[in-house]
Order: sequence, then C-alpha cells, then structure tokens
Amino acid sequence: MCGIIGYIGPKQVTPLLLEALRRLEYRGYDSAGVAVLSEPVTGEAPRELQVVRCRGKLSELEGQLAEGAPVGHVGIGHTRWATHGRPSDENAHPHRFRSVAVVHNGIIENYLLLKRSLSDRGHTFSSETDTEIIAHLIWEELAQVEPGPDRLLLATRRALKLVEGAYAVVVLCTDTPDEIVCAKSASPLVVGLGDGENLIASDVPALLPHTRRVIFLEEGDLAQLTRSRVRVVGLDGIERQRPVRQITWSLLAAEKDGYKHFMLKEIHEQPRAVTDTLRGRLLHSPPSALLDGFEIDPTQVRRLFILACGTSYHASLVGKYLIESLARIPVEVDLASEFRYRDPIVKPGDLVVAVSQSGETADTLAAIREAQKKGAQVFSIANVLDSSIPRASSHSLYTHAGPEIGVASTKAFTTQLIALALLALHLGRRSGNLSEEAAADFVHELTALPAKLSQVLHTAEQLQQLARTYGHARDMLYLGRGPQFPIALEGALKLKEISYIHAEGFAAGEMKHGPIALIDEGMPVLVLAPHDGGYEKVLSNLSEVKARGGRVIAITTEGDRSLTALADHVVEVPAVHPLLAPVITVVPLQLFAYYVADFKGTDVDQPRNLAKSVTVE
Ligand code: M6R
Repeated sequence: MCGIIGYIGPKQVTPLLLEALRRLEYRGYDSAGVAVLSEPVTGEAPRELQVVRCRGKLSELEGQLAEGAPVGHVGIGHTRWATHGRPSDENAHPHRFRSVAVVHNGIIENYLLLKRSLSDRGHTFSSETDTEIIAHLIWEELAQVEPGPDRLLLATRRALKLVEGAYAVVVLCTDTPDEIVCAKSASPLVVGLGDGENLIASDVPALLPHTRRVIFLEEGDLAQLTRSRVRVVGLDGIERQRPVRQITWSLLAAEKDGYKHFMLKEIHEQPRAVTDTLRGRLLHSPPSALLDGFEIDPTQVRRLFILACGTSYHASLVGKYLIESLARIPVEVDLASEFRYRDPIVKPGDLVVAVSQSGETADTLAAIREAQKKGAQVFSIANVLDSSIPRASSHSLYTHAGPEIGVASTKAFTTQLIALALLALHLGRRSGNLSEEAAADFVHELTALPAKLSQVLHTAEQLQQLARTYGHARDMLYLGRGPQFPIALEGALKLKEISYIHAEGFAAGEMKHGPIALIDEGMPVLVLAPHDGGYEKVLSNLSEVKARGGRVIAITTEGDRSLTALADHVVEVPAVHPLLAPVITVVPLQLFAYYVADFKGTDVDQPRNLAKSVTVE
C-alpha cells in the first residue's frame, strides 16, 4: 500500500506533489520521491526527467528538495510501503528507465520472469523492486509504437498486458511531455478533475486542495491526462465512460476513507489485505504454497517453535493448530517475553518462526537472538518490510496488510493467520502428511476467504446493536475450543485494549474448572461456536453458562438451527474450513470491540497507555 500522486497543469509541481504526499503518508512512509519534467529552455529543446528520491519519511525528501527542487508543471510523486526490495534510496520510487519514469502501488507477481527476459535482452536494473521492470517494458514498447498523440497510452497498454498482479501505476515520459498516463488493476486510483489542470492519486485526500470532482478508475482502466482533458480506455483500447463524482467528505474523513476511525477502516480492509497476502503464493497443480523462495525440508527440522507477543501470539497459537493438523509436526508456541528468560532448550536443527506486525517488538527480537545464539534457524512473518526482526532472520514471509495505524491490530492478525496457513500447507505437502486432495481443498478454501471476509463484514450493524446492549458491562468472558480458543483470547484482548472493559478468554472446556464461578446475569459471555469438531462440546458449555443466568452471544456458522434456542443473540458467519474459520470468526469480535469503544467514546485508534510498536522490554 503506497501513496501515488500525479499532476499536469499550470502550477509549480514540486510543492504541490509534496503537499499531496503529506496527505498520503498514512499509506506508507519508508521512502519517498518525485519525478518532474523540466521546462523547455528553448522551444524545441528536449525535456528532462528530474528525479529526487530517498529512504525515510517524507521529511527526508523535503530536506533534500530544500537544497534545490525540480522546476516544472508536470510531475509524479510516491510515498512507499515496501513490498519487494528493502526501503533504500535505490528502491524508492519513481523508477526510471531512460525517457520513462513510473510510480507504482501493488505487487507484480510475474516480475522475476519479466526481469529475466528483459535481462536476456540486455537490460540492467538499478533497484530490487518489481516496479522498475514496468519502466523498462514501457520504454521497449515505446520504441515499437509510431509517433502520434496516443503513443505513451498505447505503449503503457501493451506493456501492462505482459504484467500479472496488482498495480496502480502512473507514467511520465520525456517524449510525450504534455500528458500523464496511468492504469489501475486491483490497487486504487482516483482522477481529480481541475480547471486547466488534472491530477491522479491513490486516494482522495491528495486531491482535495485542488478539486472535489473525481473519477474513481475501475479494474483494467487506463487514463490519459492532459491539462484540459481526461480520457479513460480499457486494456483493449476501447473508450470507457466513468461517472464524475463530487466529494463531500472532510479531509480527515477522506484519509480514513470515510470511516470514523483507522481501526474500522482496517477491519474493512481485510478482504484486500488477505488477497494481497495470498497473491502469487498459492500453487494449484500440484497444490502447495510458496514461501517467497524459502524451502523447508521437514525432515531437517528437529523442533519447531513460534515466538510472538500480544495479538501476534494469538495468531501463532492458531498456527500451532494449522501446522500440527496439516503437517503433523509438533509445534511449541511461546510468548517471546517468557521464552528468552527461561533458558529455553533450543538446539541446532530447530526452526524458530517469529511473528510480528511491526517487526520491531523488543521482546520478539531478543527472543530470536537468544534462539540464534543456541544455533536455531529463524524464519519471520512480519508486516513491515526490512524491519529489525526480518533483518535478523534468515528468511521472511511478509504479510501484505499495508500500514496498520490503529493501535489495536486487526488486518495484521488475519494476514498473519494466512501466512501461517501458507507455512502449514508448505510443510504439509513436503512432510507427505497432507494428501493432494486435502491440499487442493485447502487451497480452494484459502482462495475463497476474501469473499467470505467481505460477507462477514455485513454483520457490522448487528455488532453495533450488541455493543449498545453490552457496552455498560464491567467484565466479559470469551469462550472457544480448538482453533477458536486463541480467537477467544484475541476477542478479549481487543475489547480490553480499546474499551477498557475487563475481558478474559478461556478454553471452553476449562469453564467447569474455575471460571464458571464468575457467571451471573451481569456477566456477558461470547461463545465461539462455528460448525467444527468442537461444536457439540461448545453447545454443552454454553448450556452450562445459560443455566447459571449468563447472557450469551454466540458466533456460529450460517444456517445453524440449534443455537437460537440456547443463546440470547446469534451472529452467523459463512461456512469455512475449520482450520481457517479463525480468519472469519475474529471479525465480529473486532467489530464488537470497536463499536463498544466507540459507544463509550474512548480513543479507539490510540488507546491509553499503549503504543503501536513496543520497542522496549
Ligand atoms: O508488532 P508486533 O506484532 O510484534 O506487536 C505485538 C503486540 O505488541 C501487538 O500485537 C499488541 O498486542 C497489539 N496492540 C494488539 O492489538
């Protein structure tokens, strides 16, 4: 998830690009850059591309530009959230090849293949990114296209036909200085319609100081922007008519995409985040998973540990169920903060998987260093590219959730579950414990998850009602069995951290061993009861709660007939593979916590006493 801006018009472009990037910085902030077409010194003098880019936040770029900013009226800018290639000056956008400069948001799945064939044709590259190949491809196509008014549009169209994956791309070319071309597939792009000027951006906030008239580009659209005109065509070259919309949101609301809080926006981003995390990693025939080049031979793994903190620890607990079920490899899950202080028995041949959204959590980092000291190999699952934990690991698999701004982790959690499911599938196939048929079914179920996530988001209104009903509770219990037990822990953590209501998660079977003493009319109990192997047992636990006067909210699979009579409220979620059900059942719990906090008026995105990334012990 990166921020993109492009401008063509009468204004000085560099300050305009910087202001727009400032408004897009919430989309990524590991590097930034601009490319500006120089003004002709004399009538026919060729234009030049002036590119300034660097690692770090936008303020770094502003510092560089203070020493001399490019002058011109046509330009593109980018603020990056790295997916391919660590954050560095070289990997910062715009990427340029000869006359062509591009900025890009998305993931090009077949970039290695394309890069290899470009190399075979003599191209050399100056970055590790997937984006750079787009500039090379467009340049090659330009050489094949006759000069004419649509030359850049045609070359971009032809180049993008070779590309598989997600992209929002904006192109500038010195040969065609009076236009900008852009294209969208899976990543957002919005055209801003001005008076004698036009803009393109990955999100509305960047456009608001200039215009409120916009066109949201749709899948497969390309747009050609001149000062006075915007044309939209498809990849087939056929003109497309897109409606012009008037934006009425305030700037702050626009940054949050119209949502009241970043947390709510991030909950709703989960279908996209899961799609991006799966992108290019599933194999269909034979069914398996790719771990970004990391091959694990299970016969060489002595013991497997997963280490993490907080929400990432809950994802890791689900990971244990996934790996043990699919690969039949025993897994030990540890809180990183405990592991490092208990002189853990770790030896060469052990594989440690570190799970972290930020990649900077001090306890997790220290735990993997401890494991490495004892000879273990470390593989990390992280969201922030090139952060300390992946840098300290020998291999990493990134969750492509994009920046998570709300302190309460939501989309990072579901994408961690996906990464762990990919790891389990990989190990299952390589250990020989997962049949081809079962693996094919699992791949199919993974592929269906984004649509099911979109469906489960429709429970939002019901959860908002429930939040109003139970928002005054002092305490709350969450119960689950098997892979739903970590979801009970996660649901309770979400409620605690943003609403300040005391909440506990328990394995449902443990109720009778103590916690049942807490049950009375004042104790709402949320029970996770999807249709899986533990369903019947959970029904008994639920009945025990009801018999003691507890009020029950049950999360179950759609079409359930038994729970309506037993529970006070039933929230139905789509049917899904039992090992993947946590990806779905956690969403109503996130929504419930969010709406309770909103109802109570707490600071949802920055709850008291918490920080997004805990870099101290
Ligand atoms: O960045 P990490 O995933 O390593 O962070 C671990 C925890 O600090 C984090 O999950 C924390 O528990 C969240 N606030 C939960 O919402």
